[in-house]
Amino acid sequence: MALERTISIIKPDAVAKNVIGQIYARFEQAGLKVVAAKMKQLSRQEAEGFYAVHRERPFFNALVEFMASGPVMIQVLEGDNAVARYRELMGATNPKDAAPGTIRADFADSIDANAVHGSDSQENAATEIAYFFPQTDVYGR
Ligand code: PPS
Repeated sequence: MALERTISIIKPDAVAKNVIGQIYARFEQAGLKVVAAKMKQLSRQEAEGFYAVHRERPFFNALVEFMASGPVMIQVLEGDNAVARYRELMGATNPKDAAPGTIRADFADSIDANAVHGSDSQENAATEIAYFFPQTDVYGR
């Protein structure tokens, strides 16, 4: 199996609910190791840059506004097949469709406030990790 890295963002709704620790426990139970982390309130500009691929989508402004509305917890996860494994842990984008026991099923309220973000490919993971962390701040293998 391939050792991979992915980015995880615990979004403002989940930070406000005080469930960072419960979400971290799920990373650990799934064999994903936190190799970089920081709490940060994104500016609108930083959120726009991060979600630039969605610029043309109808929900872009709502998404940017929400992501800049309060502090987020950003971490790099490392482990075998980390991208797919973490996406499995998160569950579907819309919590109504998320499988029982997933992070979004348990902690998300709506498609707007859906608790967590995860990279959707190894290529995007590399870009997203570099967006938030200089290489020297990532302590993986
Ligand atoms: S993907 O991965 O591009 O297929 O995901 P997608 O479902 O298209 O959603 C991309 C991100 O946009 C968020 N989203 C929304 N935000 C606000 N309102 C609506 N209606 C909405 N629909 C999707 C979704 O949570 C994804 O955010 P991230 O942070 O990537 O999970």
